[in-house]
Amino acid sequence: MLAYRHLFHAGNFADVFKHALLARLLIALGKKDKPYCYLDTHAGIGRYDLAHPWAKKAREYENGIGRLWQRKDIPAALAPYMAAVKAVNPYPNLRFYPGSPLIAKRFVRPGDRIVLTELNTTDFAELKALFARDRQVAVHLLDGYQGLKAFLPPQERRGLVLLDSSFDRAREFARIVKALAETHSRWATGTYAIWYPLMEPGAMRGFARDVEQTGIRKILRLELTVEPEDWTVTVPGCGMLVVNPPWGFEKEARPMLRWLWGALSVKGAGGASVNWLVPE
Ligand SMILES: C[S@@+](CC[C@H](N)C(=O)[O-])C[C@H]1O[C@@H](n2cnc3c(N)ncnc32)[C@H](O)[C@@H]1O
Repeated sequence: MLAYRHLFHAGNFADVFKHALLARLLIALGKKDKPYCYLDTHAGIGRYDLAHPWAKKAREYENGIGRLWQRKDIPAALAPYMAAVKAVNPYPNLRFYPGSPLIAKRFVRPGDRIVLTELNTTDFAELKALFARDRQVAVHLLDGYQGLKAFLPPQERRGLVLLDSSFDRAREFARIVKALAETHSRWATGTYAIWYPLMEPGAMRGFARDVEQTGIRKILRLELTVEPEDWTVTVPGCGMLVVNPPWGFEKEARPMLRWLWGALSVKGAGGASVNWLVPE
């Protein structure tokens, strides 16, 4: 039973963080002439209507994309992401928010391929309808962890995997580490972007240690915290591990996250960091 629905959270600070980084990763992959495959294991519905009652329930987007929408000083590294958000909004007001599949669609080139898996049947149906006439995008009603086994390594031998779990089950961190280790043993040269919520420090230390123990190298850790760390109430921040980040990504991400922290932090709480969990 999947209780999580992303529409409640769409466009929040975590989505901005995730999608701004996703845009940079795809742009970097597109710099080489050869085609690549983008696999999104937990794809969601692809586009979110912020006027929907679910999105309006906690209005999380107001402290996310809502804070960037009117700004005239968006840094160059963030501009492609902002353009992707503007592209799904035909009118001056912020109404729709693109999920990772639509962000990806904006940056892939004609010869590249998008593979999406989603396990919630209702969400899958919406996603499938969104890309119904798009031959570049394959949409599967499938467990994302099964998708890793089914679709990797891709025929292109180049690509990016976004693993964006909803963390609505116990032991999700352990599941992710196991999946990463297995997949990496079959496809060591792929780029993997793994999103996670920041939980209490003990849990995060355990996750970092378990990832280190896989023996996988070249893992960049990016984190953004925007609220005071109150582990009983909210998720104050989130992170992304990027295995095999493309050349130049780290250099772009650092100032971009610092700027995002300034734009999204609540009363100056938290911070942004980029460091190598495991170097090359
Ligand atoms: C955080 S949301 C995804 C958001 C999306 N990646 C984006 O950035 O727009 C997580 C999604 O994963 C789906 N999901 C949960 N468990 C799954 C699984 N084992 N395999 C595939 N999808 C799953 C949920 O239904 C939900 O739509």
